[in-house]
Amino acid sequence: MIRKYQTSDYNSVEKMLKDEFNISFPQENSFSRKLVCAKDENIVGILLYSVMYERAEIDYICVKKECRNKNIATDLINEMFTILIQDNVETVSLEVRKSNIPAQNFYKKMGFSEVAIRSNYYKNEDGILMVRKLIK
Ligand SMILES: CC(C)(COP(=O)(O)OP(=O)(O)OC[C@H]1O[C@@H](n2cnc3c(N)ncnc32)[C@H](O)[C@@H]1OP(=O)(O)O)[C@@H](O)C(=O)NCCC(=O)NCCS
Repeated sequence: MIRKYQTSDYNSVEKMLKDEFNISFPQENSFSRKLVCAKDENIVGILLYSVMYERAEIDYICVKKECRNKNIATDLINEMFTILIQDNVETVSLEVRKSNIPAQNFYKKMGFSEVAIRSNYYKNEDGILMVRKLIK
């Protein structure tokens, strides 16, 4: 089930991020929003994005390893698109590591196009800037 994050999800999300990436709960600001995929009592996917007036940015998307390739990320992004279109957001952008081929394929499948290389965007690696228009 795709739904908005609730504060009661904190422990489940934190555990998933720790298990999958060894990272802590993300830093957020007033533009941040979160969607999750809940299965039974557990969170198996999370999408963190920011909305700044007419544009949005994906901060990250993560699906638990054993639940991948079951359209969970697709459902999270499609739910985000629905919300953004209702809010009159015009474009969504993101940066992805040059080495992260699964994520690049995924984003292309979701209608994103590569528009630029961000040199050394990550510590020792270039980032690819990808953009998708929502309103023509
Ligand atoms: C990228 C990620 C979010 C995709 O989640 P998912 O729920 O497995 O994705 P979906 O099932 O909705 O979509 C599957 C699509 O993703 C792409 N994809 C997923 N795994 C892939 C792989 N190992 N190799 C190539 N493409 C892959 C393909 O386009 C695939 O579509 P297809 O089966 O028709 O070829 C997931 O692999 C993940 O959590 N990765 C680690 C975190 C990450 O890299 N996040 C993105 C950067 S912030």
